[in-house]
Amino acid sequence: MELVIPSTAYKDSYIEALKDGFCLGSKPPKTPAEIQEIEADFEGFVTKKILKPYNPVPRLREDGKYHQDSPQISYWLIDNGNFIGVFNLRTQLNEFLMYINGNVGYGITPKYRRQGYATRGLALLKEKAKALKMEKLLVAAKESNIGSWKAIEKNGGVLENIIYVPWDKDGERYKRYWITLV
Ligand SMILES: CC(C)(COP(=O)(O)OP(=O)(O)OC[C@H]1O[C@@H](n2cnc3c(N)ncnc32)[C@H](O)[C@@H]1OP(=O)(O)O)[C@@H](O)C(=O)NCCC(=O)NCCS
Repeated sequence: MELVIPSTAYKDSYIEALKDGFCLGSKPPKTPAEIQEIEADFEGFVTKKILKPYNPVPRLREDGKYHQDSPQISYWLIDNGNFIGVFNLRTQLNEFLMYINGNVGYGITPKYRRQGYATRGLALLKEKAKALKMEKLLVAAKESNIGSWKAIEKNGGVLENIIYVPWDKDGERYKRYWITLV
């Protein structure tokens, strides 16, 4: 099992994962029309959407809010040649990331869940972060997302606090953890 830079080599299992409802964090699964579009130009999707270059300039979004990218490296978790999930490493925390989203975002394809992949993928991501000389990772999970915070705890996460996030539509609390790398 390994974390790799996303590539078209994993097209079949990635598309299969999307069809199974794979999604990252709280984002909704892709619609059949979106999946068809991704499949039709998978190379374009990987290069323009997944490996898109970091743009530090804040941009006005369609909803009228400003968005600023944070530097991020996307990895795909691959086992036996198959796409298993995504692990995103945000290498710098801005004010917003420090508040809630933290350094790490991940998601495992539905059919591979509850088999230890998030736990092992996070362990591999710690090694990537260490190689980049990062000293600690902030990782957050909704209180109801037991699989997520258990994977964090199994990777040495130390709970800092549990907070309400004003815009969470379910009024859910989030557990914020630090994983020390050195
Ligand atoms: C959360 C998620 C990443 C967990 O991935 P996973 O590969 O199933 O996690 P693991 O198999 O490593 O499980 C870790 C622990 O949590 C437990 N667990 C996993 N899912 C669980 C669930 N739905 N309910 C209760 N426990 C669960 C596992 O049994 C394991 O505990 P154990 O070792 O004590 O038995 C996965 O469910 C997912 O991708 N969800 C959608 C996206 C998401 O929520 N991402 C995280 C955002 S912070």
